[in-house]
Amino acid sequence: KNIALLAGGYSGEYVISIKSAQTIENNLDSSKYSTYKIVVTRDGWWHEAADGAKYSVDKNDFSLQIGGEHIRFDAVFIAIHGTPGEDGRIQGYLDMLQIPYTTCNAIVSALTFNKSYCNKVVKAFNIVGIANSVHLIKGEPYSMGNILEHLRLPVFVKPNESGSSLGVSKVKLVEELLPAIEKAFKEDDQVLIEEFIEGRELTIGVYKVNGQLHVLPPTEIMSQNEFFDYEAKYTPGVTNEITPAVISNDVLEQLQNKAAYIYRHLNCRGVVRMDFILQNGTNKLYFLEVNTMPGQSENSLIPQQVRAAGLNLTDFYGALLEESLS
Ligand code: DAL
Ligand code: MG
Repeated sequence: KNIALLAGGYSGEYVISIKSAQTIENNLDSSKYSTYKIVVTRDGWWHEAADGAKYSVDKNDFSLQIGGEHIRFDAVFIAIHGTPGEDGRIQGYLDMLQIPYTTCNAIVSALTFNKSYCNKVVKAFNIVGIANSVHLIKGEPYSMGNILEHLRLPVFVKPNESGSSLGVSKVKLVEELLPAIEKAFKEDDQVLIEEFIEGRELTIGVYKVNGQLHVLPPTEIMSQNEFFDYEAKYTPGVTNEITPAVISNDVLEQLQNKAAYIYRHLNCRGVVRMDFILQNGTNKLYFLEVNTMPGQSENSLIPQQVRAAGLNLTDFYGALLEESLS
């Protein structure tokens, strides 16, 4: 089968995507799949052949013309973080062409990529804590007084649509709030300000194959930085990631049940990773976000969890691909 592996993208997570795609390419069974990596950039979508020749994608039918051969794809393995591969845009395009792909569909991707909207939907499920928040939209007036009336410091200030903590700040002092908002507005035209929940950060992969839902062993993230920021995420040694997390059976069960519930009720597809905080003192779980295209670089959380589950990445990625084809 011909498989297109999409990498790159238009966001600051481009570099991470290239690494994710590398792991996936290394682990896709070459006896079953002919994989063509396609790098998506604002300047074009292209495939680089083994000899270095570059071929541009024909976006009319998402195909490649290589020599005399017209290559069409049976399925697309999306490995783009951020726009346009995690926010529903490419998903919508592939839907129009009726080409199957490995991730959540367009509307689910768009919803989960918008942290504020996703929080509102998950809050309505009534099964998990959601931090108090304020959602700012560029051009709509806001005031520090108004924000501080609703939220208690410290808060996280985040671009509403982004990943890998790009543009995110933790704000402890009133005077840090405005610069943090301005920084987040540089990444996105919406900003989410959320109260900080003191606790342990836990993250868990969920996926579906053969109609069957599976949860992976969760990871506890212990960052030496103020929070699990871009540096902590991608610099070895700055963060301890413990997989499987050392948590009580009760917390494990809650985490698995809530993550599975959210996956089912948002109608997710493929592998997603959900981030939670286990609040100190109360042992209550707070939902942070769903990542519908979680990092797959060699040391990323999902590969760690897959290995901890006793699976190998070749079987895992193969199962995700087959699921998209079924
Ligand atoms: N946005 C990064 C890649 C993640 O969720 O793993
Ligand atoms: Mg994320």
